[in-house]
Amino acid sequence: MERIPVAGPWITQKEIEYVADAVANAWYSHANIYHERFEKAFADYLGVRYAVSLPSCTSAIHLSLLALNVGPGDEVIVPDITWIATAAPITYVGATPVFADIDPKTWCLSAESLEECITPRTKAVIPVDLYGNMPDWDAIRDVARRHGIAIIEDAAEAIGSEYKGRKAGSLGDTGVFSFHGSKTLTTGEGGMLVTNREDIYHRVLFLRDHGRKPGEFWNTEVAYKYKMSSMQAALGLAQLERIEELIARKRQIFAWYWEELSDIDGITLNYEAPGTKNTYWMVTVVLDPSWGIEKERLIALLGERNIDSRPFFYPLSSLPAYEHLEQAKQARQRNQVSYRISPYGVNLPSALNLSREKVRYVCEALKDILLRRSKAFSRNESADVETL
Ligand SMILES: Cc1ncc(COP(=O)(O)O)c(C=O)c1O
Repeated sequence: MERIPVAGPWITQKEIEYVADAVANAWYSHANIYHERFEKAFADYLGVRYAVSLPSCTSAIHLSLLALNVGPGDEVIVPDITWIATAAPITYVGATPVFADIDPKTWCLSAESLEECITPRTKAVIPVDLYGNMPDWDAIRDVARRHGIAIIEDAAEAIGSEYKGRKAGSLGDTGVFSFHGSKTLTTGEGGMLVTNREDIYHRVLFLRDHGRKPGEFWNTEVAYKYKMSSMQAALGLAQLERIEELIARKRQIFAWYWEELSDIDGITLNYEAPGTKNTYWMVTVVLDPSWGIEKERLIALLGERNIDSRPFFYPLSSLPAYEHLEQAKQARQRNQVSYRISPYGVNLPSALNLSREKVRYVCEALKDILLRRSKAFSRNESADVETL
């Protein structure tokens, strides 16, 4: 059997036709037609005023920080569990990342930990809708409002997720998305920044195009060149016109896993809190530590059966990239939930081309690994346990 990939898109004839049309026609006076259509449709879909297409979500976070005037001397709080792209732009602007703990159910930023991490230097927080899960947004927004700090919502992994009827990405001062090839909606590489704030919108347009007003050749600041191509925008528009179908497929894949795995003791799957909608970018399993199987081992065992999987994110504060930071040292002491869950979490195959049969195959493999483990335990064959 072909190797089962961990993530990947669903491309149809519609996407091919839109991209071909952009290649043929999106030039001269039509150069921006696909950007305009994609941004307008995206803003409408989210129910926000402005959307700016960008080359990546990382650039959207970078521009968000710049537009919010975050710089040297400022602190920005991020959850300890996320992809490093959430935090790296904090360093780009000369500010300091502070790593807060996560909630044990949603695996997203804990509002209590956020509040504990706030100091007089805190300027912003970047909550993450991790794997499509939604955090307790009411609590997070309440903390941010009481302390007067800005919110950048990292919805890179959560297009279509909802919190009390509001779409992921629409809950902060800015919201940011990734359209990397692994994401539910892809443009190959790409990103979007959304906001309801006119001041941020104009500042972002200025900063992402070498510090000039659109169309002018008079640069008043040294800034950045962060633009998406029209071919990418055409691909994004086609995908967005199919968004309900893409999300339904993601939810179907999760439902298949749930059918197979939810009655096994000692494993936890993604959580969907009441009042939220999870779009399950990555179906994720967290094993109870009593299994004694760490994520690297489980990934290797699945790999032997031709199944690709990924580690639950390592706490940022554990990474060599942040070793030198005093903030990371403090986080390693403080963030007990992050350090308890991360060693035992694995992202299972969640690509949009997955079939029912493949999900069954993955679940059978996982169950077999766990069964062998418990048999070895019950025979107390420590040698077997070691080699599992
Ligand atoms: C939570 C999170 N934030 C940010 C990013 C960065 O996205 P991009 O690769 O488009 O810059 C990713 C990408 O994987 C992500 O998962």
